[in-house]
Amino acid sequence: MKIVMIGTGYVGLVSGACFADFGHDVACVDKDAGKVEALLAGRIPIFEPGLDELVANNVAAGRLSFTLDIASAVPAADAVFIAVGTPSRRGDGHADLSYVYAAAKEMAPHLQPGAVVVTKSTVPVGTGDEVERIIREARPELAFSVASNPEFLREGAAIEDFKRPDRIVVGIDDEHARSVLQEVYRPLVRNESPLLVMARRAAELTKYAANAFLATKISFINEIADLCEKVGADVQDVARGIGMDSRIGPRFLMAGPGYGGSCFPKDTLALLKTSHDYEAPLRIVEAVTLANDSRKRSMGRKVVQALGGATHGKSAAILGLTFKADTDDMRDSPALAIVQALQDAGMKVRAYDPEGMEQAARLLDDITYCSDAYEAMEGASAAVIVTEWDAFRALDFARMGELLVDRILIDLRNLYDRADVERHGFRYVAVGR
Ligand SMILES: NC(=O)c1ccc[n+]([C@@H]2O[C@H](COP(=O)([O-])OP(=O)(O)OC[C@H]3O[C@@H](n4cnc5c(N)ncnc54)[C@H](O)[C@@H]3O)[C@@H](O)[C@H]2O)c1
Repeated sequence: MKIVMIGTGYVGLVSGACFADFGHDVACVDKDAGKVEALLAGRIPIFEPGLDELVANNVAAGRLSFTLDIASAVPAADAVFIAVGTPSRRGDGHADLSYVYAAAKEMAPHLQPGAVVVTKSTVPVGTGDEVERIIREARPELAFSVASNPEFLREGAAIEDFKRPDRIVVGIDDEHARSVLQEVYRPLVRNESPLLVMARRAAELTKYAANAFLATKISFINEIADLCEKVGADVQDVARGIGMDSRIGPRFLMAGPGYGGSCFPKDTLALLKTSHDYEAPLRIVEAVTLANDSRKRSMGRKVVQALGGATHGKSAAILGLTFKADTDDMRDSPALAIVQALQDAGMKVRAYDPEGMEQAARLLDDITYCSDAYEAMEGASAAVIVTEWDAFRALDFARMGELLVDRILIDLRNLYDRADVERHGFRYVAVGR
């Protein structure tokens, strides 16, 4: 199959490279000249484990190419995927669909008869209808289909998730789109990944419902963690106790500093906007977003309280800035609110993140960036683990003792055993324990 991927970000690049690896012929299009130039020169513009090798192998095999020119790529395509960003619209929180609609307009003059346009971006219910309208307006005579194929991959494990998904969701309103998408995903279905075919609107909503449900699990366990701290229980015991119930499941029950990233915050917000537009309130999702927003800043207060409130002029060593490990993505990371809260309390911030410092530097001011965790701890009162990078799982307590002025470890990811930390003469502050 000939596939065109419009948008070569986290989702477009991973999906394009994986489709090529299955044997399809894939052209990735992006508007960002710097990105395309880097890819043509063999450089990967994002950090995603294994992606450099996957891209290099498929480029070498002649199945994967990159271009700025949508007009040259689209005419040959059986399926054109839209994988552009859908950030929150400034001011009102609706999903900003301007990139999706621009992509539809730009591809329309070049589509061949029978082409299937597939929205992989996360988009509100009804977006497929508008994409169809835009293309039909430009090409009234053209036979084409518009389908929805939301993506569920996680940054940091994106290739594995794409190649071994729990399920593939395909939303179609005609049989031609079904047969083309079945062909696109045939290699995965042969590997026993379930392909769920449903109506286009149901597929669009499925993605938001999935993210809202996962965000709910996170906010739920975070609130239980707060209660654990008050009643003297350990949230990790409680999480294990409920997670082994197969009706609940153990994943997304790690208490921590709140969810961030490029998906959950904007997608829960966009789902709420849809629910308002259709007068079908989602009270649970409303509560989840409120709980998560206040949680991020409250983690900053937790650090201030651990220092007894006397924070002016003191430094904190922030270990980890990205919203989770194994990515360089800083979008809506809890670190942003935590660093701001510490700076508001008069603290200086020294920080280290294995992959996220370049992106963090665009979003955060007045931080001293360090080359490792120990340099960040030099002269700091406390070390604060914000992201669960492996590099922070086995810190050298002897070295930390020489560097940390107040010998405090604040572990917002519950990576350590309290008794172990305290045995080394540190004060230990965790989440919900
Ligand atoms: N990042 C994730 O983990 C993830 C997971 C599942 C779904 N999604 C969804 O997938 C979509 C893409 O997310 P992302 O993280 O890959 O975004 P991204 O910002 O990393 O990439 C989007 C790319 O699209 C390009 N672009 C925008 N308009 C274009 C146009 N008209 N023509 C060509 N290129 C264009 C941009 O230059 C950019 O490179 C979003 O809707 C997101 O919600 C993301």
